[in-house]
Amino acid sequence: MPKRAFITGITGQDGSYLAELLLAKGYEVHGLVRRSSSFNRGRIDPIYLNAEAGERLFLHYGDMTDGVSLVNLILEIRPDEVYNLAAQSHVRVSFEMPEYTASADGIGTIRLLEAIRAAKLDCRFYQASTSEMFGATPPPQAEDTIFYPRSPYAAAKLYAHWMTVNYREAYDMYAVSGILFNHESPRRGETFVTRKITKAVAAIKAGVQDVLMLGNIDAVRDWGYAKEYVEGMWRMLQADEPSDYVLATGVGTTVREFVEMSFEHADLDWHDYVMFDQRYERPTEVDALIGDPSKARDQLGWKAETGVRELARLMVDADVAALAEGFGTQPR
Ligand code: NAP
Ligand code: GDD
Repeated sequence: MPKRAFITGITGQDGSYLAELLLAKGYEVHGLVRRSSSFNRGRIDPIYLNAEAGERLFLHYGDMTDGVSLVNLILEIRPDEVYNLAAQSHVRVSFEMPEYTASADGIGTIRLLEAIRAAKLDCRFYQASTSEMFGATPPPQAEDTIFYPRSPYAAAKLYAHWMTVNYREAYDMYAVSGILFNHESPRRGETFVTRKITKAVAAIKAGVQDVLMLGNIDAVRDWGYAKEYVEGMWRMLQADEPSDYVLATGVGTTVREFVEMSFEHADLDWHDYVMFDQRYERPTEVDALIGDPSKARDQLGWKAETGVRELARLMVDADVAALAEGFGTQPR
């Protein structure tokens, strides 16, 4: 019998890479998808091009705000591993939708944990926690760094993080929290800053965009390659004992530097195109996130391989190619 995994957020950046990884490892993969009036499966659709992998992929309608759908799916699928990646994951948007963000990202995690507990399922649980939880606490940030969330998103994620820890301690569940620093890819959502930049570079180079409006370009982030981070998630669920881990590169880069690297790769001078727009600032900003991934390296043998310059280049190249192929807005 192949191992059976259930991924919430399978249509997102990480969910799509994780589904590919688990299918390649021989898993049967079940994913939660939201009903949408327009197509929202662009990232996982290519999996069906491989008939053998496509046969082991199953999608189910549900929602993190609908507990009954989660209870029914856990009972029906009876997974060996659950990866809870679904979230309203945009920090700026969480200021506009704090209640929904708390429900999907915070209470949604409880709905899922309770569904597992009620089903008396002996499965392993991964929670997608985030470096945003460190917020105002200065870097470097590790597993034992004090949390200081600075947005409704971070506060909701911190609740989910502590509930994951609590279910591990209270009910002896194999439940782990991966505290992941920013990770990007050509599949990154187009309103996150890296992808917004690389997509703009491709469009400017092609002559179909004149200007790129950005908010705070002095913010520092620790950017890695998403494809490598999903391997870390899987490793966390294969360890002998459940524990929480930071995944990061350990290198901090400003948004300004990411802009420079991306424009430079396309032989463009960013000063000619980038303008400040206050609308992209946040009521409370997280100034600097730089992770210390020593524990994951020592205990899981996990290490980020792709540096930020290489990441910027591969994302620009992918956006240039997508535009040339006429797939300008299709995440791949
Ligand atoms: P993403 O691309 O925004 O994907 C989010 C996924 O969650 C999508 O599949 C989305 O479905 C789904 N979703 C959103 N609300 C939902 C709801 N109410 N019910 C069911 N599904 C819902 O995010 P990502 O970058 O892959 O990140 C994956 C997870 O890791 C998220 O929890 C995020 O907060 C966390 N995280 C991300 C990073 C990062 O740098 N990428 C770092 C730390 C933690 P649709 O496709 O239908 O929108
Ligand atoms: N999105 C966006 N758009 N961000 C901008 C812009 C802009 O036009 N201009 C400047 N920024 C700055 C933001 O203020 C922030 O400091 C930084 O760029 C990164 O913003 P995002 O790419 O939106 O990512 P994030 O760091 O807020 O959140 C991402 O990483 C978290 C992990 O640290 C998301 O993926 C979260 O879901 C994740 O938890």
